[in-house]
Amino acid sequence: MEPFRSHLFVCTQQKPEGVPSCPASGSFAVLDALDREVRARGLNQDVQLTTCGCMGLCDEGPVMVVYPAGVWYRRVQPSDVSEIVGTHLCDGNPVDRLVWNDAAAMRALSVEHGEKFRAAMAAREKAGILPDHLDQMIRGYMSSRCILTALELDIFTAVGEGANAQQIGTRIGANARAVGMLLNALVALGLLSKSGDDYKNTPESARFFVQGSKDNQRNGLLHTANIWHRWSTMTDAVRRGTRIPIQREDNPEWTSNFIAGMQRNAKDRAPLVVKALGTAGVGRVLDLGGGSGAYSIAFARACPDVRCEVLDVADVVPLTAEYVRQAGVLAQVSLRIGDMLQDDFGSGYDVVMLNAICHMFSEEQNRDIFRRAHQALAPNGRLVVQDFLLNPDKTGPQHAALFSLNMLVATDAGASYSEFEYTDWMKAAGFADVRRINLPGPSDLIVGSVK
Ligand SMILES: C[S@@+](CC[C@H](N)C(=O)[O-])C[C@H]1O[C@@H](n2cnc3c(N)ncnc32)[C@H](O)[C@@H]1O
Ligand code: FES
Repeated sequence: MEPFRSHLFVCTQQKPEGVPSCPASGSFAVLDALDREVRARGLNQDVQLTTCGCMGLCDEGPVMVVYPAGVWYRRVQPSDVSEIVGTHLCDGNPVDRLVWNDAAAMRALSVEHGEKFRAAMAAREKAGILPDHLDQMIRGYMSSRCILTALELDIFTAVGEGANAQQIGTRIGANARAVGMLLNALVALGLLSKSGDDYKNTPESARFFVQGSKDNQRNGLLHTANIWHRWSTMTDAVRRGTRIPIQREDNPEWTSNFIAGMQRNAKDRAPLVVKALGTAGVGRVLDLGGGSGAYSIAFARACPDVRCEVLDVADVVPLTAEYVRQAGVLAQVSLRIGDMLQDDFGSGYDVVMLNAICHMFSEEQNRDIFRRAHQALAPNGRLVVQDFLLNPDKTGPQHAALFSLNMLVATDAGASYSEFEYTDWMKAAGFADVRRINLPGPSDLIVGSVK
């Protein structure tokens, strides 16, 4: 059975720099052009586009195969795509000048490639060379640091419609020679393009990193740039067992970037959480450490009868107020300055939410919050924990295990916890029907009810 009229496999196997490969010959640009052409001609139901690994014909890349006909193309360029789609996929006539049908030569090349590859790997192994995947992991900070510095200096906004290093340096008040080096690295990373001396934003950079663009995420991403400084303290934090305080966090900009970062994560997840919980029987919601108020805003939007209360610290509540005002739900969402570790929560709530909160605190602090949340809830009320949930041996998922270290460097006693720990603490606090609700994305819910 063939679910599609044609199935295209485009090789996108990445190889170390300097080694011939389809991506080095432009296979991603071909893939992009194919995707656009297939859509433009309304063929998405008939034609399936799939990336694939090395076929051993790397010197002749980009390589692409069309099944079920079994037509192999080599050295395909984006400029060939319209012809391939029109002549071959629509009219059924392969584009002869690009077709490679010398099966014996292809087999020989592929076998030779495989042998060379195995010989090269054996030589590296014998010489004790660090494997590429380890080397890349160790130097991963380099590309990350380039983007973070570019965001901190607001380089992408300064590039504007296009400018040279001197002009960009003047705009951001930085050294032109160094700015040129950073710009070139950003081109190498695919975040800018260069023509002559002029740099331009790629469509993605223009969309996500430039001030004034509709989807600009720079402010939220600056929180990631701030976290970088904490991660630099990890070696000492591991020795000491807790965070090493760093000066630069005591300012309003740090806090507003933090909350912008939280809002960036929360705004699309919040409606999913509210949908998963449902609004039936929900009149009053307490949003502990509500941050940008994203989850209360989602509850308010989902149901006009719901009233939410966000409790957060004094520095954050004015920021929350602005997000709530912009969302147009001031009538449904009230704000309270307080410390969730000490203050009385009140009573009669139908839902108490702890979204991305419990990882900031120790086991004892969480157990105490759960006990007090139980007292604050009405009969049938629910406590909702949303967090990155570790598996029982705490070695995964990877993002949860890494995030635990984020809490080591950022908090006194926080960590990522497992589903079993949260379940245990909730039951000990008196909750019944404790269950996990999986959500798309990295965090899930643990929900317990008051009976
Ligand atoms: C990681 S953010 C999560 C924000 C929000 N719940 C969300 O998911 O987008 C943690 C929030 O808890 C607040 N917070 C931290 N410690 C607190 C405390 N002791 N009392 C009240 N709020 C606190 C922070 O100000 C911040 O807004
Ligand atoms: S990288 Fe594409 S065939 Fe080898």
